[in-house]
Amino acid sequence: MRIGILGSGLLGGKLGTLFARAGHEVVFSYARSKEKLKRLARNAGANAQAGTPAEAARHAEALILAVHWSRLADVLQQAGDVSGKVILNCSLPMNADNTELAIAHTSSGLEELVKIVPMARVAAAFNTVPSEVLFGVYQRRRRTRRPSLVYCGDDRRAKSVAVTLIRDLGFDPVDAGPARIARYIDPFALLVAQLAYEGKGSPEMAYRFERLRK
Ligand SMILES: NC(=O)c1ccc[n+]([C@@H]2O[C@H](COP(=O)([O-])OP(=O)(O)OC[C@H]3O[C@@H](n4cnc5c(N)ncnc54)[C@H](OP(=O)(O)O)[C@@H]3O)[C@@H](O)[C@H]2O)c1
Repeated sequence: MRIGILGSGLLGGKLGTLFARAGHEVVFSYARSKEKLKRLARNAGANAQAGTPAEAARHAEALILAVHWSRLADVLQQAGDVSGKVILNCSLPMNADNTELAIAHTSSGLEELVKIVPMARVAAAFNTVPSEVLFGVYQRRRRTRRPSLVYCGDDRRAKSVAVTLIRDLGFDPVDAGPARIARYIDPFALLVAQLAYEGKGSPEMAYRFERLRK
């Protein structure tokens, strides 16, 4: 798959690196320095390159949106026309100082994104794991017992892309349902972050849902 990374920070940088190592073509975009994007691309290997958001979006079959919520309008404006593109939203709708969700209860980051880019094909994924966990999970991807990763959305194509990419990184995809379920997923992501960074665990913490059959 050709993947455009919109936001090459802690999360986008690691996701792009692992997608490239898993065999996808990746364009890293949107950081404060072009040098950083080039360095990320070099470290990710032959399948990766650095570019602008417009270049990342142009040929992408999937766009990974991983910016602070306050940068959403800017990065989308730089990306240009995203009609028909699959966008996987990793961004949590946090306020400026990251102390609370700026959107909650009656809407979610995903639902607001759908309103902003109604012609894009949007799902939420990868926003419920600390980025520090990604390399370890990828290394253990051949194991049968994989950590879960929840995703949701209303667009079937976007959800199918999410499933492929979630599996490629070594997680077990869990379909949480339609886009409105993102209202529960956003706060769940904060709980995971709280446990990872301030609980007894380390940031290298994933979660697993067990289905108990009768
Ligand atoms: N990190 C996680 O573990 C994690 C987990 C779940 C969800 N999320 C969500 O994912 C999103 C990204 O998080 P993150 O931790 O990856 O944040 P981050 O490290 O700050 O990455 C954001 C990216 O945006 C770039 N950026 C910021 N301002 C810019 C500007 N004016 N012009 C160009 N580029 C600019 C940053 O550039 P620089 O690289 O130059 O700083 C960085 O590459 C957030 O919405 C967060 O809630 C993160």
